Amino acid sequence: MAEERLDPWGTVEVKDYDRLRRVFGIRPFAEVIPKIREAGLPPSLHMRRGIIFGHRDFDKVIVEGYMKGEKIAIITGFMPSGRFHFGHKLTADQLIYMQRVFGAKVFIALADAEAYAVRRLPRREIIRLGIEEYVANLIALGLDPDKTDFYFQTNRGTPYYRLIQLFSGKVTAAEMEAIYGDLTPSKVVASLTQAADILHPELDEYGGYKRVVVPVGADQDPHIRLTRDLCERLRGVVHLERPAATYHKLIRGLDGAKMSSSRPDYTIFLTDPPDVAVRKFMRALTGGRATAEEQRRLGGEPEKCTVYDLYLYHLVPDDNELARIYRDCRSGTMLCGECKRMGAERLKAFLEEHQARLEEAREIARSVVEPPSF
Ligand code: TRP
Ligand code: SF4
Repeated sequence: MAEERLDPWGTVEVKDYDRLRRVFGIRPFAEVIPKIREAGLPPSLHMRRGIIFGHRDFDKVIVEGYMKGEKIAIITGFMPSGRFHFGHKLTADQLIYMQRVFGAKVFIALADAEAYAVRRLPRREIIRLGIEEYVANLIALGLDPDKTDFYFQTNRGTPYYRLIQLFSGKVTAAEMEAIYGDLTPSKVVASLTQAADILHPELDEYGGYKRVVVPVGADQDPHIRLTRDLCERLRGVVHLERPAATYHKLIRGLDGAKMSSSRPDYTIFLTDPPDVAVRKFMRALTGGRATAEEQRRLGGEPEKCTVYDLYLYHLVPDDNELARIYRDCRSGTMLCGECKRMGAERLKAFLEEHQARLEEAREIARSVVEPPSF
């Protein structure tokens, strides 16, 4: 078990989420869905569909907090090191859901320190991407900027930096290596900075939000465990409650491997011109068979299909309709050509609507976040 290691910066592909949950002690998300309903709230699309597959303390910290009428916050960070794509949209949808349904305050770190240290990008480019790509797309997707605190890591105030410094005295190199494997100074700093991103909203200076949830891909769990441990270790110095976390399955790229800005041919960006996006989509790896005859006989395999992934995560919000697509694929009544043409129409419509909102969103973006001076 000690051999199990997830690299937050690596390209590990997680195939067996149940096993991963058990190894790391992440609870199944299915157990909290009834509690969300009991609180009178609808679970989100990604919760219903098992894309959010795990959690730590979402029931105790968030659902109970909501029932008691306490302030709730959802916190995440984006490394502005590339363009905003459908993988980012998965997190965006969760922020928007928590903001609208749970009334949560949203905190978004633009992880410029991390992008600079880990990805080695020029500062100007990082700052531009942070505002023009990340903040703008989040707003265009429906995040309410009035109930969101966007900030660049290098621009946050003294108490935030005080946390990072105090954290540094509470971790050992051996311990960080046990969690992360190969360590560099930049990874150590990025980890402690990320812990501060997650915990600083609990400080009075930032609103005193003691009920915090962090939506992450499973690869970010090492950060979550470290962050939760740090709360205990600063006891007596500052009052920090352990944050909750939810874990989602990462959407795959159009070739079935990792979706990433560094693989633009296999990644659909929300700013792709619709015809460019549709061209990528039409070439995507499906779960279809070698010939039409074979597919009619054996049916397709939606589990292996990156087109189906896009339906499941983003393009087909209606559960009944998704179930119909799944059935027609499995039974071989629908072939990939027809299915993709339907999907391409939806993708095009989605991008057109989104991009129509983008220009205004960019203007708002420039006014809601202050760029670092260097
Ligand atoms: N490390 C995250 C990434 O690789 C970005 C990030 C920075 C983050 N601060 C965070 C994620 C706080 C969750 C919570 O993209
Ligand atoms: Fe994928 Fe659709 Fe083909 Fe099924 S029919 S494998 S869902 S593209």
